[in-house]
Amino acid sequence: MQQWWRDAVLYQIYPRSFADSNGDGIGDIPGITSRLDHIAALGVNGVWLSPFYPSPWADGGYDVADFRGVDPALGTLDDFDAMVRKAHKRRLKVMIDIVPNHTSEAHPWFQEALAAGPGSPARERYVFRDGRGENGEEPPTNWRSTFGGPAWSRTSDGQWYLHMFAPEQPDLNWDDDRVREEFRGILRFWADRGVDGFRIDVAYALVKDMDEPLRDLVPVEGGRFEDILANPDHPLLDRPGVHEVYRDWRRVLSEYDPPRATVAEVWLPSDRRVRYTRPDELDQAFNFEFLEARWDADTYRQVIDASLRDARSVSTVPTWVIGNHDVVRPVSVLSLPPGTDQRAWLLSDGREPEPDLALGERRARALALLKLALPGSAYIYQGEELGLPEVADLPADALEDPRWVNSGRTDKGRDGCRVPLPWNTGGPSFGFGSNGSWLPQPSWWGRYSVEAQADVPDSMLRLYQEVLTLRENCAVDEEVRWDRRLDQGPVLAFWRGGYVLVMVNTGEVPVPLPEGEVMVASVPLEGRTLPGNSAVWLHREP
Ligand code: GLC
Ligand code: CA
Repeated sequence: MQQWWRDAVLYQIYPRSFADSNGDGIGDIPGITSRLDHIAALGVNGVWLSPFYPSPWADGGYDVADFRGVDPALGTLDDFDAMVRKAHKRRLKVMIDIVPNHTSEAHPWFQEALAAGPGSPARERYVFRDGRGENGEEPPTNWRSTFGGPAWSRTSDGQWYLHMFAPEQPDLNWDDDRVREEFRGILRFWADRGVDGFRIDVAYALVKDMDEPLRDLVPVEGGRFEDILANPDHPLLDRPGVHEVYRDWRRVLSEYDPPRATVAEVWLPSDRRVRYTRPDELDQAFNFEFLEARWDADTYRQVIDASLRDARSVSTVPTWVIGNHDVVRPVSVLSLPPGTDQRAWLLSDGREPEPDLALGERRARALALLKLALPGSAYIYQGEELGLPEVADLPADALEDPRWVNSGRTDKGRDGCRVPLPWNTGGPSFGFGSNGSWLPQPSWWGRYSVEAQADVPDSMLRLYQEVLTLRENCAVDEEVRWDRRLDQGPVLAFWRGGYVLVMVNTGEVPVPLPEGEVMVASVPLEGRTLPGNSAVWLHREP
């Protein structure tokens, strides 16, 4: 049987910000169920839910206290089962997030480890070490947390524990068999409940080189631990041993019919990333080169060719993604002048950029036509279909992302793409719930709502619906065939399947359109030209 995910479009739900069913300002599982019609009407094949597990929410739920439950603020396991049932009725697959690199500090294992003290078996499930210095008062290494600050925190008995992320997220020790066994059980727990697949959080971390003496890292400007280019033999990332974990998981997931699917979060260069998706490991990995590519035809050509080539080399397909809950929303990215540091929302000279949102939106429409035409699977982050821009001016006291505090309040973090969705043009929290929202929504939010766009033929929402319907109805192979005559300079031109010619004009100057019937265009077309910053799908004989 054909693997269902090979050409699927998945819609990423960030549960806390999707829909609030009970007016406490927090999106929840019944809220998702109540809005499944929106997702089904969009024309996607399934959803991926970011974490909804019991959590102190120190990192948006990526600090899990119980891997087999639902946070009471988001609902119950029964609510979850009902949601899955109703999704399946609408022929939507359900994927969930698995967070195997760390737990919450509130997880019973970590509490047990703290209580049991140095040298205990309970501590072996995590990464505890004595510090350096005369009294062990210095951290064991110079490693930094990705959120800023040291990657080690000290306990009251003097030992230090490792956390690649926030101090509230202690790293697990994947050399301990109890950890491996626990995660097999977690996968089975959810697969038994009918979940169709898993997104694997920081899949390239897990296994670490903790052989003594521990190795310091070459410090990088900004001090982020991820810099694998400066540290190719990185003690925390992409260790050869991590692959055995996924071979083991594949055996577990293959016990199900159909086998449960997997998509990995691996922030590595493509050639190192594809090794996670070899036939006996995970199915897919997010294509972050495409996400990071800027509006430039040559960059897209290179990334598309390399993605297809690398995926093919391990018999999988690429994924096409332009946003998620960790990055600045694409409309805003595409509206910023080249050279802007998007994380800091600053120009290289330290000034705040002035985004040209009309341009960003126009390009985002064209990018949707590009990404949804490419062979493989695609991911849509909630709100992308509404063309939501980043909320760049959230008040400092509203920020919840641990990046903000751990960076010493220099990095505003990722809350700007996590603002609860606008469903209606007005009303309390714009239809998100009946009573406010956990992050403040801007006053202009209603303009982007589902209600405001549903009946407007040239809205972003209608464009996504239209393209997704067309995509569903036109067969595709797993190749991109560039059109030798039309694909040049700022214009991308390639064939999807036999009869669809896709053209994207990344330049400013209009170009002539070849023959063929216009199936969909990102802007209204006048005459036979494709204006700058726009895209079209043409139906025509090759
Ligand atoms: C992943 C998640 C991110 C989270 C981190 C730690 O990168 O996407 O949101 O903060 O892992 O779990
Ligand atoms: Ca709620």
